Amino acid sequence: MPARTFMPLAMYHDCVAAESWSRNAMNPTGNSGSQMPAPVHGCSESRHAAGRAVVEVNKLRKSFRSGTSELVVLDQLSLRVLEGEIVAIVGPSGAGKSTLLHVLAALDTPTSGTVYCAGRDLGALADAELAEFRNRQVGFVWQRHHLLADFSAEENVAMPLLLRGISRAEAFGTARDWLNEVGLGARLHHRAGELSGGEQHRVAIARALAGRPSLLLADEPTGDLDAQNAEAIVSLLERLHHAHRLTTVLATHNPHLARRSHRVLKLDRGVLVPSAVAEGELG
Ligand SMILES: Nc1ncnc2c1ncn2[C@@H]1O[C@H](COP(=O)(O)OP(=O)(O)OP(=O)(O)O)[C@@H](O)[C@H]1O
Ligand SMILES: [Mg+2]
Repeated sequence: MPARTFMPLAMYHDCVAAESWSRNAMNPTGNSGSQMPAPVHGCSESRHAAGRAVVEVNKLRKSFRSGTSELVVLDQLSLRVLEGEIVAIVGPSGAGKSTLLHVLAALDTPTSGTVYCAGRDLGALADAELAEFRNRQVGFVWQRHHLLADFSAEENVAMPLLLRGISRAEAFGTARDWLNEVGLGARLHHRAGELSGGEQHRVAIARALAGRPSLLLADEPTGDLDAQNAEAIVSLLERLHHAHRLTTVLATHNPHLARRSHRVLKLDRGVLVPSAVAEGELG
């Protein structure tokens, strides 16, 4: 551990959630209660999954206002993800893949519609409960992974655990275990900014999983990597999925990653439609 003060909380929030951590437009849907609703039909479910829905989205609309105009990105979107599934979201750049993942992670609010995640109605949670939800229930691998460049791999992975109030010894022990698991046992003390692109992706995956979330959300986890490193990340995600019985929703342009998921859904004009993926087909 370097001889310097540990990162302040605010800095962590700035770095990890720069885009949309604040929730000033809380509960636009006026929902109440936190029980899972009756199943949503419309998207086929995977035979690989165990039956319990971890994600249940109904009639989700998300729009952004720009001056006097409104950009509708998601419109009447429904999604149900069962425990143990890997669901790939594909679609061209700008289709709304990141927007959807941010809403599922409670990093952004729907314009309307309901989002249930890990048994919680996100529209019914107060800010403190949402913060706890993000910290405990969701592991997020960011499109630009937001590692803290000046901090070690071990510190980056330990950080969400320390925010939970877990002791330093336990947080760092868990961080080391996960870094070993993703093949970075020899890079524990490297500063994140000095790691290769593929290694940084591995740290981001270890950080997302160290808290044992109910749901892993990965936004282009192979983005910016060469084919060999991308393939290594795909294999790693597959191995971790099976070893830890994860439920995973990922956004990707990578046909190999999409094809190795249980289900592929394409974002098309604001809604998700089942899709088959052929080599080179993704936008
Ligand atoms: N905070 C925001 N304010 C205004 N517009 C936004 C905001 N966030 C996203 N958008 C717009 O919403 C659309 C969807 O963006 P999003 O990042 O979700 O696409 P994406 O499918 O993830 O694309 P990519 O494959 O390039 O990552 C884009 O047109 C984008 O410009
Ligand atoms: Mg994106």
